[in-house]
Amino acid sequence: MKLLVTGGAGFIGANYVRMLLERGGDRVVNLDLLTYAGNLENLAGCEDRPDYRFVRGDVRDRALLDRLLAEERIEAVVHFAAESHVDRSIDDPREFLDSNILGTQTLLESARRAGVARFLQVSTDEVYGSLGPTGLFTEDSPLAPNSPYAASKAAADLVCRAYHHTYGFPVLVTRCSNNYGPYQFPEKLIPLMIANALEGRPLPVYGDGRNVRDWLYVRDHCEAVDAVLRRGRPGEVYNVGGNNEMQNIQIVRLLLELLGLDESHITFVKDRPGHDRRYAIDATRIRDELGWAPRHRFREGIRATVDWYLANRAWWEKVRSGAYREYYDRLYGAGGRHTST
Ligand code: NAD
Ligand code: DAU
Repeated sequence: MKLLVTGGAGFIGANYVRMLLERGGDRVVNLDLLTYAGNLENLAGCEDRPDYRFVRGDVRDRALLDRLLAEERIEAVVHFAAESHVDRSIDDPREFLDSNILGTQTLLESARRAGVARFLQVSTDEVYGSLGPTGLFTEDSPLAPNSPYAASKAAADLVCRAYHHTYGFPVLVTRCSNNYGPYQFPEKLIPLMIANALEGRPLPVYGDGRNVRDWLYVRDHCEAVDAVLRRGRPGEVYNVGGNNEMQNIQIVRLLLELLGLDESHITFVKDRPGHDRRYAIDATRIRDELGWAPRHRFREGIRATVDWYLANRAWWEKVRSGAYREYYDRLYGAGGRHTST
């Protein structure tokens, strides 16, 4: 299949592109703006392959999209590109609404006009809001996004729904829980804690550390996205989750254990405003319809992830320099939003 992957230089997108190229049989065009989160080093070794092309560009650039879809005769679009970090969306929501909502609509319109046969919107469980101590999100749970990031993804999902309903455009939506694994930008919980621990910095746990997330190894998410792209029913939403709920503090303690460090590195800091308490996914639909299930156990996946960050120190040190350093100091430095409680 001839695929356009957007955001393929980011964390999940790069893992997905790598998975497709390892497998072979598709042509992959990767369109990525290379924001602070996009990194071509995530695709090192892919550049010269005849079945792969990288294009730097914005999903809001309609002329570029029209040209690319026609020139490459694209059959399917997998849309990962987005502003993805909740804390950044709290600081400055505008770019999230612009990139995530208008970007998705521009891409949908261009793809529809080009006669693309499958369009997969990579969405998130955060569109459902927050759960109490029990229960799971199903595909029928009401949309109740709480952060500007989540609201932008929910809005994009609704635009996808409208394109299917109004134009019969073959859109599929996946809503996945928290991913972890290689190439994740060290602003997100797991790589941030690993990198801080290795640099001897404090590990900033928000609030009481008891917020719950359902963690899934990134490769399992990529396989789910691919199954839905190729075999899912157009117009449907598919939840994707790891059936692996953990409190943040448990994750941080486990990382310290794997790194051979003690808990004195943990520091409890001011909570994230509007912090969702618990996410948990019911992934029955994708399991029953498409036979997907996670293949990686958390214990193995997290060990592989720690090993990857230990072996790729140059990668994350480079990523954490420059603009990220300023962002980090603003958020966690003296007087910042997440200073000590
Ligand atoms: P990421 O921030 O690591 O990567 C995003 C990529 O998109 C970057 O390479 C960036 O350069 C690119 N990008 C951003 N805006 C763009 C634009 N306007 N045009 C072209 N490229 C642009 O994000 P991620 O964690 O890999 O997430 C990828 C997708 O998966 C997002 O849509 C996110 O909402 C969704 N998702 C993420 C998770 C998670 O745990 N990380 C879970 C569920 C869903
Ligand atoms: O659920 C899917 C979502 O998971 C994706 O849609 C998002 O793109 C992705 O960023 C992620 O969102 P979260 O907000 O859950 O991930 P994050 O890694 O930012 O935080 C995970 C939990 O850890 C959350 O409860 C906040 C907490 N946390 C995070 C950071 C960065 C801390 O306690 N300390 C921190 O320094």
